[in-house]
Amino acid sequence: MAKTYTHNNVAPNTESTLKRIACGDFPTPKQIVSYLDSCVIGQNEAKKRLAVAVYNHYKRVASKLFGIGDDGPFADVEIDKSNVIMLGNTGTGKTFLIQNIAKMLGVPCHIHDCTKLTEAGYVGEDVENILTGLLRECDYDIDRAQVGIVCLDEIDKLARKGESMSVVRDVSGEGVQQSLLKIVEGDIVGVMPQGGRKHPEQPLIQVDTTNILFIGMGAFCGLEKIVEKRLHKDSATIGFNQKTAAVKEPNTENLLDKVTAADLSSFGMIPELIGRFPVVTHTNPLGKDDLKRIIQFPRNAILKQYQKLAYLDGKTLTFNDEALDMIADVALSNGTGARGLRGILETVLTDFMFDAADSKERRLLVNKYCVERALQGLSSSAAPVSRKRA
Ligand SMILES: Nc1ncnc2c1ncn2[C@@H]1O[C@H](COP(=O)(O)OP(=O)(O)OP(=O)(O)O)[C@@H](O)[C@H]1O
Ligand SMILES: [Mg+2]
Repeated sequence: MAKTYTHNNVAPNTESTLKRIACGDFPTPKQIVSYLDSCVIGQNEAKKRLAVAVYNHYKRVASKLFGIGDDGPFADVEIDKSNVIMLGNTGTGKTFLIQNIAKMLGVPCHIHDCTKLTEAGYVGEDVENILTGLLRECDYDIDRAQVGIVCLDEIDKLARKGESMSVVRDVSGEGVQQSLLKIVEGDIVGVMPQGGRKHPEQPLIQVDTTNILFIGMGAFCGLEKIVEKRLHKDSATIGFNQKTAAVKEPNTENLLDKVTAADLSSFGMIPELIGRFPVVTHTNPLGKDDLKRIIQFPRNAILKQYQKLAYLDGKTLTFNDEALDMIADVALSNGTGARGLRGILETVLTDFMFDAADSKERRLLVNKYCVERALQGLSSSAAPVSRKRA
């Protein structure tokens, strides 16, 4: 029977990552998706795409490092590297998906903020520092680092000036995009062990990036407009009459599904870099129901965490549906995806947590009045939150 991966048996350290890759002990895309389903709500398309990309990536690593498949009919075929670009609004689970995949596979994962990177010669960070971060994640175990995952967060902020509406950099990001080319494609890179600028006297650690999976991610604000414009143009050239069904408004809901390399290039990413990220996927905006589910159901759901805290005080904590509705509405109007949920719950539960230890009440129910009062009266958080017996 196929193995089921849960957070209790992913245990990356029982066997080294490389040993598992060598004996093909790697979860299939379906197993990866099923693991992700336990911690990430929705985003089914992104889960599937990532699972396949990651699975293929590590098969390629197995063939490169351990010669698996070298004696078969495809012995002389080399599998190209498939880095990934993931688009999507803030707080929709981009980083969270990758963190969970890395945890499941037991590979080191480093998330690097690209906004700090500058080309050599400017004040800022060299691109090699990205690899210093990865080395730190695995205690400088170079062999593990060389099969790790690197997230290039906010890669969209490296867009060429003048092309994208979202660019805020003083120094052109184009130079940084250029300097990323070699690293993401696969190269031996001299890395400063402690980061910082290269210094002639400091010995460098040589890191081979051939088997490192790079995942560029960002909100790519304005990209949907570019896609929409292109779709309009494309559809306007179909048929004779602009008013035919062929030129109907494109469905704005899934414009990110239709992103092409040309759109990314219009956004301001250089074609050479886009070419090195052949897998493009995206997360969807989170709706109210998604947000409600995120509060309650993932393995580490925020509500479960507070319930555990209440349990440690000998209490049970529940929220009724109206209260959850209201919290999800507030998060939705903040436009920060699931990122704002913890802050809202923290505000709502401040009084509960303040009183819980001294109160004799064992069952705590949060209803919509509790939420209303807590969120309105941010300045008067000392006011007791009404409690009812569940
Ligand atoms: N689909 C989801 N399911 C469960 N939890 C989620 C989901 N999306 C986001 N979260 C929660 O919100 C937090 C923030 O999400 P994450 O860091 O993945 O956002 P992001 O898409 O990378 O945004 P940004 O573009 O701002 O970096 C996560 O740590 C996680 O707790
Ligand atoms: Mg992120």
